[in-house]
Amino acid sequence: MPEPDVAPPQYLCASADLPERGKAVSFHVVQWREPVRAFALRFDGRAVAYLNRCAHVPTEMDWQDGEFLDRDRKYIMCSIHGAVYDPLSGQCVMGPCNRGRLTRIELTESEGQVYWHPTRDTKPAFED
Ligand code: FES
Repeated sequence: MPEPDVAPPQYLCASADLPERGKAVSFHVVQWREPVRAFALRFDGRAVAYLNRCAHVPTEMDWQDGEFLDRDRKYIMCSIHGAVYDPLSGQCVMGPCNRGRLTRIELTESEGQVYWHPTRDTKPAFED
């Protein structure tokens, strides 16, 4: 059952906008009253989303807008110091992110549309 003060799922993009291991779709959220960019991509058929904030230093990670995957398109890689994350869990697997992980945003797909799910901490940009 959804929490009463949490916004309903928010439309993000069409499923076709997230090609397998392709460029990410960026979007804006508000976390703890601060605007933060987030991104969604598809990996092994699953659409996943995270805040665009490295676990090493809280900065944006893409080396070009929407480009988060490494050269082999196996991992999310931070462009700043090379931290490497598992795309499906957001867990750091190598580099200066230690045991950190990316902050996940829940996604669902329905009838060719992708939606992200706000929480008490991560809200749609228009709410604050
Ligand atoms: S800021 Fe991402 S690895 Fe350092």
